[in-house]
Amino acid sequence: MSPVGVFDSGVGGLSVLAALRAELPHENFVYFADTAYAPYGERGDAYVIEQSRRVIEHLRREHGIKALVIACNTATTAAVHLMRAENPDLPIVGLEPGLKPAVASTRTGRISVLATRGTLASAKYAALRASFAGSADVRPVPCDGLVKAIEGFDSAGIAALSERYMAEAGPFGDAPGEVDTVVLGCTHYPLVKEELSRHAPATLRFIDTGVPVAQQTRRLLASAGQLAEGSSGSLLLQSSGNVAVLEAAAAKWLGLSVAATA
Ligand code: DGL
Repeated sequence: MSPVGVFDSGVGGLSVLAALRAELPHENFVYFADTAYAPYGERGDAYVIEQSRRVIEHLRREHGIKALVIACNTATTAAVHLMRAENPDLPIVGLEPGLKPAVASTRTGRISVLATRGTLASAKYAALRASFAGSADVRPVPCDGLVKAIEGFDSAGIAALSERYMAEAGPFGDAPGEVDTVVLGCTHYPLVKEELSRHAPATLRFIDTGVPVAQQTRRLLASAGQLAEGSSGSLLLQSSGNVAVLEAAAAKWLGLSVAATA
């Protein structure tokens, strides 16, 4: 059975891959980390569109993927509409910051959205935010440098940036005027949720979209008659950059010991 392609600028999409593998255990997956060209989030749309196009062409040509999950909020906001138009025969699932579940869960009506500068500056995000105007006070927190620190396993950098951006996202609490819900609007951030949560009360709710995206992928595959059944699926990890980084990330965050290919 043809695989489902999953791609991100780097290792962040592994947080989505984990949810996909749990939801769809019979599917074959090929995960592509565009590490040589990461991070996407502090570059312009033209760059992200060009990279997304190259990665999709590669996944179609080399792996004959039957569907694609763009496990990157930045690439989705910049490129998903074009990628769908250019690949009308390929089911494509994109990601966007989970404002909808955040608005449904907040009690104080105050939400902070941690994401890349590119995602927060995009027209797609502006439209998403506008659709919830009046339902909640939503504060954007662009987290420059955090993706780079995660890609580099830079523990000191992750710790310092987590503290800085969580301070910008607060004050947290359940009283009126306080933020009780934080949206992790970049797929890298769930990987460091533990570090982020050190700077917040235990009651703070973090929202990420791995599980709903996996459920949406299941629905899309089912409606296309493409759902795999039977034996357990396989996993291929591939990177445009240093394969050791992807292998180490898969081991550290997913507990997977899989060799990656270039
Ligand atoms: N994981 C990507 C996202 O969800 C990170 C983008 C980047 O490379 O900066 O936005």
